[in-house]
Amino acid sequence: MSRHYDVEAVRKEFPAAERIVYLDSGFQAPLARPVMAAIETFLREGLETAGPKSVWLDRVEQTRAKVARFLGVSADEIAFTKNTSESMNIAANALPLRAGDSVLMIHGDHPNNTYAFLNLKKKGVRIDFLPMTDVVNAEAFLPYIDDTTRAISLSHVTFHAGHRFDIESIGALCADKKLYFVVDVMQAIGVVPIDVKAIQATFVGCGSHKGLLVPQGLGLLYWNQTLKELEPAYLAAASLAEIPDDLIARPDRLASSPTARRFELGNFNLPAIHALGASLDMIEQIGVKNIQNHCFDLGDHLLAQLDDLGVSLIGPRQRQHRSPHIYVVGLPATEWLSYFEENGVRVSPERDGIRISFGMFNTIDDVDRLVHLIRGRLSKKSFKAA
Ligand SMILES: Cc1ncc(COP(=O)(O)O)c(C=O)c1O
Repeated sequence: MSRHYDVEAVRKEFPAAERIVYLDSGFQAPLARPVMAAIETFLREGLETAGPKSVWLDRVEQTRAKVARFLGVSADEIAFTKNTSESMNIAANALPLRAGDSVLMIHGDHPNNTYAFLNLKKKGVRIDFLPMTDVVNAEAFLPYIDDTTRAISLSHVTFHAGHRFDIESIGALCADKKLYFVVDVMQAIGVVPIDVKAIQATFVGCGSHKGLLVPQGLGLLYWNQTLKELEPAYLAAASLAEIPDDLIARPDRLASSPTARRFELGNFNLPAIHALGASLDMIEQIGVKNIQNHCFDLGDHLLAQLDDLGVSLIGPRQRQHRSPHIYVVGLPATEWLSYFEENGVRVSPERDGIRISFGMFNTIDDVDRLVHLIRGRLSKKSFKAA
């Protein structure tokens, strides 16, 4: 049951979730039938007709427009990439940073964002880290900003403890201090409503294999198109303002596309873009706010049961500061992961315990099954929660 939508109907679209207790959407979403159907359409067209490429490219643009609507931005501000790492590297290298400039990040945040910026050390750019605390907002960043600071980058939702950082206040701070603001929304997208204009971000990047329900290999990048000075660090025909009709490269016509296509490189991941078109339809039909609220309800239920068992939660507890769908619990992964696996429950090992992460298809029964297993083992003896 859900107060927010017909979760039983949604669940039927995810056969994997019917077979196992799937509590690992923070790792990879199971495939949904409509998403698979969209990929199959593409494959069948390729098989039978060798590909109506113009039809496929029209669908790329339709999906770009859907992504833009989903994030509250213009289609000209959306580029397709390969994954979060690529989006973050594109963003980090597009910022006009020089030796002596500095960037602020959060210690222990996702490495796929952090390394993109650490690589700028080669240019003499300094990366400074704030400690990871339950609440990260503008106030937390303020004391770290000095006259070398040029940018802030962090995750919206953390993968390893389910923090949900106050990116709107940090975005307002960046606007006020004239800093670039780069946000990794990989764990948030599809579960937490994201209004990119309210964040006031320079770049927002993610992959699409978690809340967006697409198989791995497709990323998104939002670019604030008023910031024309942000250019890709590379050049491809696809990223140009004008591609010569005769396809002979012109050294004197190298201007970047006025749209976010300036950040794209060559051909697209067409099967995954077909998948994304279908998954966005599913998500919009349910409503991302409803998905968020459903996950919050599952989380409240989980937390109440864990309290009862004396199992701790790692990371923030209040709805205001936690993600709706990621809960890391103090059960050592070395002792508990295989137990869950053997009992048909899929979760992830995390730095400080076991990560339970919900998707749109999870139910209270999934939570109860997990809790039943924890209770059964804890009651047996020497197994203690951390
Ligand atoms: C916050 C965050 N960023 C990025 C990634 C993944 O990066 P990529 O899309 O490059 O594989 C993950 C998880 O896989 C994540 O949790």
